Amino acid sequence: MAELSIRPIPAVRTHDLRRRVLRAGDPRPEAVCFVGDDRPDTVHLGAFAGTHLVGVATWMVEPVPAVVPGLAGRPGLRLRGMAVEPWWQGQGVGRALLAAGMARAHGRVVWCHARDRAIGFYERAGWQVVGDGFVTEATGLPHHLMVAGPLEPGARLTAPDRQAGPAPG
Ligand SMILES: CC(C)(COP(=O)(O)OP(=O)(O)OC[C@H]1O[C@@H](n2cnc3c(N)ncnc32)[C@H](O)[C@@H]1OP(=O)(O)O)[C@@H](O)C(=O)NCCC(=O)NCCS
Repeated sequence: MAELSIRPIPAVRTHDLRRRVLRAGDPRPEAVCFVGDDRPDTVHLGAFAGTHLVGVATWMVEPVPAVVPGLAGRPGLRLRGMAVEPWWQGQGVGRALLAAGMARAHGRVVWCHARDRAIGFYERAGWQVVGDGFVTEATGLPHHLMVAGPLEPGARLTAPDRQAGPAPG
């Protein structure tokens, strides 16, 4: 794995990677601004190789959605905007960003809306799919809700069709 340092960055520094990796083809300025980006308890993490920003992830304090049996409404930490520079993908940057964010959970349940193409990445880290798939309006892409760590008994897991290999930007 490459030598990396992970540290907080201002929201605006996430925009370039969000644009190129997550919102390619959507030129609207607001496409890379997420509701909650500017909340004081939101943390944006950047992964740096030297001085070069090669990955970003945003962590927002948001309760666990109602569709997660046993955990609904519990204090949560939501991951958004996980994006690794395309030529740095597959080298441990995403894993390092995930670990750094989860270290800030402090007992909260960590969750996200994962692109189906990225489900395998989260599963490698012990996350689990919950409930049915859906397509987000912002991307038009299939997603599933995922939760980090073991789920309580009764949580409904699914096994969606998925593509193998790293997700393209
Ligand atoms: C998904 C993404 C964040 C993963 O980051 P990354 O730096 O490429 O992943 P890492 O190199 O840290 O991979 C960690 C592990 O997950 C695996 N992995 C990575 N992406 C995967 C994928 N899409 N599907 C299945 N496994 C994947 C790696 O093979 C590695 O496995 P290992 O533990 O056996 O070595 C990155 O590829 C990316 O930005 N993709 C495009 C945007 C995207 O889909 N973002 C997620 C939105 S929910």
